[in-house]
Amino acid sequence: MSRKIILCMSIIMCCVVAAGAAWADVKLPDPKRGGGDGIFGLLEKRASGTRGDFPKNDISLDELSTILWAATGLNRDGKGWTVPTAGGKSPYVKIYAVKPDGVFLYDWKEHSLVEISNKNALGEITGDGFVKESPCVLVFVTDAGDLGSMASLNAGNSLAYIATGAMTQNIYLAADSLGISGRYMVSFNGDGMKNELKLRDGETPLCIMPLGKRQ
Ligand SMILES: Cc1cc2nc3c(=O)[nH]c(=O)nc-3n(C[C@H](O)[C@H](O)[C@H](O)COP(=O)(O)O)c2cc1C
Repeated sequence: MSRKIILCMSIIMCCVVAAGAAWADVKLPDPKRGGGDGIFGLLEKRASGTRGDFPKNDISLDELSTILWAATGLNRDGKGWTVPTAGGKSPYVKIYAVKPDGVFLYDWKEHSLVEISNKNALGEITGDGFVKESPCVLVFVTDAGDLGSMASLNAGNSLAYIATGAMTQNIYLAADSLGISGRYMVSFNGDGMKNELKLRDGETPLCIMPLGKRQ
């Protein structure tokens, strides 16, 4: 093989490797802000997906966009969030989406997903079979450092847990309106979570919520 051909092949290989390693952040489509089932009907139906027959069907990017926005997106023309926060502070609970195609952090400012890795980490973050098979598992992570002057009121992550309760209840209702089931869970693999989400010291996973579309 001539040296020119070897050089060309090396350049092509470098490009392929570089492309494979490229970060793939995802700008989310606009969330659904109208229509759907009424709030009182949703409250009447609200339920967790059951462990025995948790739905496994895929969730579209439009649906994920709406669910993340319901959980902690900007509302009121960008002046507030869909959940209350202590002292009106910016959200201090982050949401990661762990999917077969990678691990992503929800950026509420940009309404986008920031890629943390392109690995399927579902097997590392949970030992629960139905969670591993879920098309999307949301992970709620707090960092006491994000609370600033409110940190002293956050004993036992109380402020963060309150926020997580509001976020997950919004998800239950918005997801159900889209025909999607979720389940609030505190059982997960903490060490695997720390590694796969690349969490820093002080960042604490509080709970997970597998999601799956019903037929
Ligand atoms: C604080 C909390 C922790 C939970 N942890 C788990 C869990 O680790 N594993 C699980 O399968 N379900 C978990 N659940 C889901 C509950 O088991 C479920 O909500 C309960 O059975 C009531 O069902 P419902 O949501 O349909 O009313 C948890 C729920 C809450 C509120």
